[in-house]
Amino acid sequence: MTVKEELIRLFEHNRGSYLSGAEIADKLGCTRGAVWKAVKNLQNEGYTISAVTNKGYCLEAADVLSAAGIEKYLDEGCGAKLTVYKETDSTNIRLRELAAEGAEEGTVVAAGMQTKGRGRLGRSFFSPSDTGLYLSILIRPDMTAADAVRITTAAAVAVAEAAEEVSGRRVDIKWVNDVYMEDRKICGILTEASFSLESGGLDYAVCGIGINVCRPEGGFPEEIKDIAGEVLKTPVEDARNRMAGLVISKFMKYYRSLGENTFLKGYRQRLIWRGEDINLIRGSETVPAKLIDVDEQCRLLVEYPDGSRGTISSGEISIRRRK
Ligand code: BTN
Repeated sequence: MTVKEELIRLFEHNRGSYLSGAEIADKLGCTRGAVWKAVKNLQNEGYTISAVTNKGYCLEAADVLSAAGIEKYLDEGCGAKLTVYKETDSTNIRLRELAAEGAEEGTVVAAGMQTKGRGRLGRSFFSPSDTGLYLSILIRPDMTAADAVRITTAAAVAVAEAAEEVSGRRVDIKWVNDVYMEDRKICGILTEASFSLESGGLDYAVCGIGINVCRPEGGFPEEIKDIAGEVLKTPVEDARNRMAGLVISKFMKYYRSLGENTFLKGYRQRLIWRGEDINLIRGSETVPAKLIDVDEQCRLLVEYPDGSRGTISSGEISIRRRK
């Protein structure tokens, strides 16, 4: 670990308290000059660190995403190995590269901003700095393609529980991978998988989660301003590190019992538009139906206008409420 990384960890565990340069140098086993340099680097990365003569350095309340900051909120033994970027193109792209190089299950890439955030159906995902959280988790499950939808649905429940814990407000889930608060989308999930040609099974899956933790400065862009929302109406200290730690821990817990569908109860409890009229949209085709529930395979159970029932797998289908 570099002096800078060790220093963030030390600061994170002593937030709001002053630590003298000599004390830090002693703890980290480096010179006071190295401490000063690391403090400057952290300040350049956005950390607010005050320096006061005869008192030392103090990490002020701030919401900078960091591995040490996230680790504080991780469940012990959740098995996550974190890499955190201030900015990257896409955490899914970064993690897929690591996966192809043989990275272990539980490897997580998180970023405070994405320049090429990817969404479902080839769309881009708005990923501004400072207010959003973007993270991808690598898993190597022994499962078929048909079962892979449960990765996304388990992630939706993990996000919903984390957002409820941090905000104290109710969260809904729109089948299959959108998380809503007060009728606005606060999170999107994109799971990308690689299959083994030999076994036909999954080689690895990268579960990418993008959350609007706070409202971006200047609001959401025109294209999404009527649908996007945020978890927190007013910023709360350390919210993004806390959200990240909670989401990763909860996801890993559900992932470990994926075969038993332990997440399904939480998914059904939050399923939006149950009993309401919806449209099933595939490309230019729109089919009216009533939303009944999700089944054990996380397929959407619907009733058509003629009274017949059917199940829909996630595939390329989106749903919209019929007004
Ligand atoms: C959607 O709503 O269409 C899915 C959006 C998924 C966005 C997340 S942000 C972290 C990860 N990296 C990406 O490029 N995409 C996913």
